[in-house]
Amino acid sequence: MARILTGIQSSGRQHLGNVLGAIKPAIKLANDDKNDAFLFIADLHSLTSIKDKFLRKENLLSTAAAWLACGLDPEKVVFYAQSDLPQCTELTWYLNCFTPYPMLANAHSFKDKANRLSDINAGLFDYPVLMASDILLYNANLVPVGKDQRQHLEMTRDIAEAFNRHVQKDILVIPEAKIDESVMTIPGTDGQKMSKSYGNVIDVFLPEKDLKKQVMSIVTDSIPLEDSKNPDLCNVVKIFKLIAPADEIAQMEKSYRTGGYGYGHAKAALFRVLLETFRSERLRFEELMQTPDEIYRALNMGAEKARYIADETLMKVKQSLGFR
Ligand code: ADP
Ligand code: TRP
Repeated sequence: MARILTGIQSSGRQHLGNVLGAIKPAIKLANDDKNDAFLFIADLHSLTSIKDKFLRKENLLSTAAAWLACGLDPEKVVFYAQSDLPQCTELTWYLNCFTPYPMLANAHSFKDKANRLSDINAGLFDYPVLMASDILLYNANLVPVGKDQRQHLEMTRDIAEAFNRHVQKDILVIPEAKIDESVMTIPGTDGQKMSKSYGNVIDVFLPEKDLKKQVMSIVTDSIPLEDSKNPDLCNVVKIFKLIAPADEIAQMEKSYRTGGYGYGHAKAALFRVLLETFRSERLRFEELMQTPDEIYRALNMGAEKARYIADETLMKVKQSLGFR
């Protein structure tokens, strides 16, 4: 049985891109009885950018609620908040001392953020070591991540190998990245990749009125209603195709080509399909957000299970380093 572990940034509410591109596939993998799965909310990582305490609490709750609403079973999966296990920050220090400075200075994501952001803090620089600690603390074998995280996984392996070489063989388990190249990029309301940072999201957990507003804001061209249109070039169709039943997709494409069918019609159809597809997830999300104690109970249960392994690894690491 392989131990699968992955972290979820709690940098904002989870959108359709997160749901289809990350949440649903990870839950499928995690709920599989053949796997021993650890899924956690990387709330310490979010401190590199988010400084507001209310927003931090809100993001933890909405992120956890999205995962639970999409079917994560907290009895089966070890589901926890990173900040509930301080063992992770302690291990980060030990790992820091086995991490070459140039390796961090050359990280793509650091260089990219350093060029874009005004707040370039040391946490941002050390981000990959905290991530290595998340993984190595729990002896993970497989780490499912997006392509953008490939370099971070290579660093985790390098750090673990350096530690084992310098300190003691086989203390840390060397993990492997599991990168699914086939996961498609979900387009946002403007046709670019849907992302919190581009303000182009469809948030399927919003109240109906607000969700409708987002759907109506999808960018289209100005071809008149009665004219024929190319469905392949339309942002509404692109999103509709990701969730609608095959016969409805075929019908919409036909209507585009025939003419007499406007973007308003297509948006109304997309809105209806979003409500239908995510009916149970939306209800459950609302319920959970009304009863945060239920969310905290799930996270506490996960932290309890995670603590046992975290303590064991940390003790081994400390002893191997000669600390009391
Ligand atoms: P965002 O760009 O909104 O900040 P994150 O970078 O936090 O999203 O991504 C969290 C997870 O969701 C990652 O696994 C990422 O690959 C996935 N994801 C994010 N946006 C999309 C998208 N538009 N299409 C497919 N997957 C996505
Ligand atoms: N850095 C990851 C991301 O941005 C989130 C993350 C933090 C993570 N710690 C992790 C992913 C450990 C996998 C394993 O998506």
